[in-house]
Amino acid sequence: MDSARILSTRPLPGPAFAELSSVEVLQSGLTGGLKKERPGIVALIVAGDAVTENTLEFLPDLGLVAQYGVGFDNVDINACARRGICIVTTPGVLSAATADFTMTLILAAQRRLIECDAFVRSDRWNSESIATLEAREVSGSTLGVIGMGRIGTAVVRRARAFDMKVLYTQRRRLSPKEEGALGVSFENLDEMLPKVDILTVHCPLTSETRGLLDRRRLSLLKDCACVVNTARGAIVDERALVAEVTAGRLRVALDVYTFEPSVPEGLRSASGATLAPHVASLTTTTRHAMTRLVVDNVKAFVAGKPLLTPIVLETKA
Ligand code: DGY
Repeated sequence: MDSARILSTRPLPGPAFAELSSVEVLQSGLTGGLKKERPGIVALIVAGDAVTENTLEFLPDLGLVAQYGVGFDNVDINACARRGICIVTTPGVLSAATADFTMTLILAAQRRLIECDAFVRSDRWNSESIATLEAREVSGSTLGVIGMGRIGTAVVRRARAFDMKVLYTQRRRLSPKEEGALGVSFENLDEMLPKVDILTVHCPLTSETRGLLDRRRLSLLKDCACVVNTARGAIVDERALVAEVTAGRLRVALDVYTFEPSVPEGLRSASGATLAPHVASLTTTTRHAMTRLVVDNVKAFVAGKPLLTPIVLETKA
């Protein structure tokens, strides 16, 4: 494969990446944009890096943006569409790992695992003091799910094993058969919020979902409810969330933030916050499978074959 034809903002993990042996890895990613025009580049591999109009201007022959991840809010899809550039992502292969990590966050937050760990390390353990670590039961609690796509569905299957009652909301209601098979009940978002002990976010970040959980909606949650987010930080009004957590009214278990890698001080200092650095899909198996899918898409594109996992943009009728 011609070295001048594919750019990647980083080397991807796993053996499949070597199949693009002559791919050029950009040493400083796309930060600050490309400095000069790169004619002949037909495919660009990114991992959450912003793909803007400005980037595309430097890539006159680009036909494919391959996103290493399932979310593609970092890519200016309108600019790509105007230039006839296709976009592919890595759906499916990361659902299990992301759902596993969502359960990890739920269990850690509800059972106060981070505080338990700090407690043991600080030598405070005696029979009276452990009473301060009394926690909330996960089994039998009510889970609210926003977005019942592949990841939301995988979370539900795990939650059902914990005897959780599951409510969900999304734009398109599932069929009665699908709801029955998953054991979930549909609710409008505002009606669901006061009923849940734990709320977990699994919708994509779009112009419609940005700020979906705003101050008013967060105030509808029960006292001490836990907000879990492994999707995108900007779906939640982060300032409003910090205010609720700082006041001790809500708790959070977060993998994503609005301005990563920056995490508000209010969250970092709150005992009611369980925090992770955007690692939900970061297992060896999953990351290798994501690389495989990116590489297969790029190879298909270069060979003029159908793409495996293209983004199909919704058109409003
Ligand atoms: C995704 O796939 O979108 C994950 O958040 C990893 O970036």
